[in-house]
Amino acid sequence: MTEMTADIKWMWKNELYTTKSAPEELAYYERTAKDYEPEFRRNLKYCGPEVCMQSLLDCEQQFGFTVPRNCRVLDVGAGTGLSGEALRRASFNGQIDALEPSDNMFSHAQSKHIYSHRYTDLILPNKETSVPSCSYDLVISIAVFNTRSTTSDCLSEVTRMAKHGGYLSIYFNKIHWDQGCFKDRLLELVAEKHVQILSLEYKPYYEGNVAVSFVLKKL
Ligand SMILES: C[S@@+](CC[C@H](N)C(=O)[O-])C[C@H]1O[C@@H](n2cnc3c(N)ncnc32)[C@H](O)[C@@H]1O
Repeated sequence: MTEMTADIKWMWKNELYTTKSAPEELAYYERTAKDYEPEFRRNLKYCGPEVCMQSLLDCEQQFGFTVPRNCRVLDVGAGTGLSGEALRRASFNGQIDALEPSDNMFSHAQSKHIYSHRYTDLILPNKETSVPSCSYDLVISIAVFNTRSTTSDCLSEVTRMAKHGGYLSIYFNKIHWDQGCFKDRLLELVAEKHVQILSLEYKPYYEGNVAVSFVLKKL
């Protein structure tokens, strides 16, 4: 690869990683929605949806439970629907709803006919969205948490959405896990008996990058 093509390849990263707030990040996704799947899937071999699902399946096997495949699922930061497609491939055949604030990202997801309902909220630290409390059997969030907009202070909001006894499967870039107080926030939720951690592992993200993937049970 020449220096020039390498620069083009990583331009998205410079643009995304210099956003400093949730509205700025939303504007980035609005601008670049049409490039998301070609760039992440085809060029970068992004495997988040598959890996996040596998973390949940591994927990089911290890702990001997099965999340009913006809249950209510919420996909937080559903984007263009790659995560919804992974849910369908894992046989989740019931109602799948999306929380996705970007109209342009979600217009791609809509064409896949996976989601029944869409919440348009932008998740902000320590602020409740319009998602009713304790309303989903499974909440997934893939490549959404970071240190710019959906920060570790948003973890409690996402756990609020799951039913008691329900599950959450969360996956994002390990860089943000290392830099963003996620471990502390997670341990607070455990200490307050809001969640139990079933697994927490480092997994592939894209092109040699590493993600953190964890599965929680809402208590
Ligand atoms: C990298 S994409 C991931 C999409 C999908 N989950 C996947 O794995 O392909 C991140 C998505 O999260 C959404 N997002 C970013 N910040 C958000 C926030 N603060 N609240 C809700 N959604 C957010 C973006 O609009 C974008 O569609």
